[in-house]
Amino acid sequence: MKNQKDLIDRALSGDPFPGLPQGHFIDGTFCAAAAGRSMESLDPGRAEAFAAFARGDAADVDAAVASARQAFETQWRDMPAAERGRLLQRVAELIRENAERLAVVECLDSGKPIGEARGDIQGAARAFEYYAGACDKLQGDTFPIGPAYLGYSLQEPVGVAAQIIPWNFPISTAARGIAPALAAGCTVVAKPAEQTPFTALLLAEILKEAGLPDGVCNVVTGTGAEAGAPLAAHDGIDHITFTGSVASGTAVMKAAAENVTRVVLELGGKSPVIVLGDCDREAALDGVMGAIFENAGQICSAGSRLIVERSLHDGFVEALCRRTEKLTLGHGLRDPQLGPVNSAEQLARIAGFIERARERGIEVATGGAETTDPETGKGWFFQPTIAAADSPNDELVQEEIFGPVLTVQIAEDPEHALTLANNSQYALVAGVYTGNFAHAHRMAQRLDAGQIYINEYFAGGIEVPFGGNKKSGFGREKGLEGLLSYCRTKAVAARI
Ligand code: NAI
Ligand code: MG
Repeated sequence: MKNQKDLIDRALSGDPFPGLPQGHFIDGTFCAAAAGRSMESLDPGRAEAFAAFARGDAADVDAAVASARQAFETQWRDMPAAERGRLLQRVAELIRENAERLAVVECLDSGKPIGEARGDIQGAARAFEYYAGACDKLQGDTFPIGPAYLGYSLQEPVGVAAQIIPWNFPISTAARGIAPALAAGCTVVAKPAEQTPFTALLLAEILKEAGLPDGVCNVVTGTGAEAGAPLAAHDGIDHITFTGSVASGTAVMKAAAENVTRVVLELGGKSPVIVLGDCDREAALDGVMGAIFENAGQICSAGSRLIVERSLHDGFVEALCRRTEKLTLGHGLRDPQLGPVNSAEQLARIAGFIERARERGIEVATGGAETTDPETGKGWFFQPTIAAADSPNDELVQEEIFGPVLTVQIAEDPEHALTLANNSQYALVAGVYTGNFAHAHRMAQRLDAGQIYINEYFAGGIEVPFGGNKKSGFGREKGLEGLLSYCRTKAVAARI
């Protein structure tokens, strides 16, 4: 516990954080960018530079893809599955051993409260543990094509898998992509977001320590335009898992189309939380607060549209506002209930939504302004905000804000709630609070979303498939289905 406090005190002092990896991780070693350039990651809680990292480009991507290809063909593809599994299990253990350090770095890089970062680190360990156990359970099938034949299938690894990772859940997203890719026998080139490169690099260090052969997992850092785009367009990769905005996901899909590379896209969301009159009110209040204010609302699956039945509405929204006004704000390392948003751009984007909403006459019930860490007067903070939204087609209800902003709509009855919920270009997740079993499961059938949460928002873990419909993307990560993204079926038919 003393080490933990020392680590946090030191990071809070603003001194350079010691021992961070320097450079890309390519072919088992850390190396400078080919062009010799670097860039800085900022600590959102202070709005100040935190550490420098390599600013990569196409030349670095080429080197990483070549290394991943070589490692795929000579090392990883043919390693016995049980051995791969033991290695990934070791990675899970090492993540747990290094948890506090990883959490502090994640907190400094992304801004999120340290308590949330700790949860993310444990989640990353679980992802490796889960897929470690799956390595030797990937099985094919047999086909009944008659006594003169033998028909069977093999699940082969796809090859080199690119991972393009966002800044809101840096290590979680890296782990939920890298672990199943490695489990399936693929090798990896990962490109973390330029706002949050460090935990992916620390993960690479851990993979090496666990005994992963050189080249099996490479990490190239840099911007989307300079490092992400050449990776997505590379003809040496066989699969892309992309998590981020619809615009960048569309660009990635277009680039992938040129090489007919398969893609999994996990894009934005504007997920509804339906609260019916017959629910457990306290559980619903807790759930709605967490759904929108965790990670300051910067979650693709944030519950950003509250749809509450009229019978409950007035008192419920009042109680929500009272709770919201009590939330503590501050630098993530002090573990507040609400941390900063990730960047100045993100802050300006959120403020723009609220400013335009006010111009349209929308009433902001609480919050609605930029602020700073009350202790230091620094950082990119936005007050937790709740706004009534009378028109279901208003920008505030339709667009992903990616900040601590909740809109409230009133439903006359469950059927109306369902109509409002499905009125979106996105369809990632949906939450339902009700005490009525039949209502809950009827809603689960008819809500358009990849994942439904009943009576607990964000319920579930690595075991549960995750991904969206409509503009939220396609393909599923997590669960055994997530493993199949990194496999291709080969069917064999033999005359015997
Ligand atoms: P972004 O989609 O541009 O960034 C995500 C990742 O993609 C980063 O690693 C970035 O470097 C990379 N990238 C960007 N352009 C690329 C390209 N052409 N080819 C390959 N890789 C590329 O997201 P950004 O600009 O940081 O955030 C903008 C908005 O996107 C947010 O306000 C939010 O609405 C949404 N977003 C959604 C996320 C989710 O979890 N679904 C995560 C992050 C952002
Ligand atoms: Mg940063």
